Amino acid sequence: MKKKNIIIILVVILSIALFIGLLFLIKHINYTKTYDYKLLKIGYNKQDVKIIKKTLKSKQIDTLLEKKYNKNILAFLEEKYFIYDNLDAYLKYYKKNNDKTFADIVAIINVNADKEFYKDTIKTDVKKEELMLLNKYNYLDESYSPNDLKEFSNKYAYGDNQKLKEVAYNAYISMFNKAKEDGYTLIVNSSYRSYSEQKEIYDKYVSWYGDDADKTAARPGYSEHQTGLAVDIQSYCSQSKDFDECEEFTWLLNNAYKYGFILRYPEGREFITGYEYESWHFRYVGKEAAKYIHENKITFDEYYAYFVK
Ligand code: DAL
Ligand code: ZN
Repeated sequence: MKKKNIIIILVVILSIALFIGLLFLIKHINYTKTYDYKLLKIGYNKQDVKIIKKTLKSKQIDTLLEKKYNKNILAFLEEKYFIYDNLDAYLKYYKKNNDKTFADIVAIINVNADKEFYKDTIKTDVKKEELMLLNKYNYLDESYSPNDLKEFSNKYAYGDNQKLKEVAYNAYISMFNKAKEDGYTLIVNSSYRSYSEQKEIYDKYVSWYGDDADKTAARPGYSEHQTGLAVDIQSYCSQSKDFDECEEFTWLLNNAYKYGFILRYPEGREFITGYEYESWHFRYVGKEAAKYIHENKITFDEYYAYFVK
């Protein structure tokens, strides 16, 4: 072969090699721009990366990349009610409370229960209607009163002047009728309470229990009873026993959600709701929310933080 031909072949081979090399280089440069590369580089493993990409939006991954690797981030990310905007608060709270489960920390932060009660309070959003939130951080104005209250006859309630907002009243009547059909009589013991009625109750509790009043009575403006969506239920049985020892209570536990009611202050969730267990206090939230809360065993505060707010 002529020398000239050999040179041409060599140049062609070299050009091809250079071209392939260049392709690899471009591919690598592009890879270094991916979230996979960046996340692996700061310490996450391939499984973590999968979870991060599945759970977070691009902007959230960008801010995650500004933080150092932290295995607790993954633990929080995998929690069902994880809210990205709360991530820093979860991590901070965990540092001082690492005896608590990740699920409890997520719940506490989501509902603000890491904050002092009645401190940074906000006016609740009444436009959420039956999903409006009343707790130790969300209140109603003194003047708020539902404009469609309906009064129970004595067939349903102890005493006169027992009222609920129409939507809750109708749901309660349907629930009452089914309970009756099943052999149980539900009795309304307390229902809508105005701001001033709540103030009277709260002040009475303070005179009896001092600071402990806050464990069982809401301060005026902070009670669900002012919404006309909450009802305290009793039965003939509960005249001589605690309500949760009565069959009517068990019936409500299994059936109230079908009518849109939930047990608002469940046992063992005092650190979320801010109130001691109240077996009698049921809150109307509508059928969809009630079903979810019932099936997933969460409080309304948690539901609100994740789905409504
Ligand atoms: N007992 C409930 C918390 C209320 O006072 O509204
Ligand atoms: Zn109540």
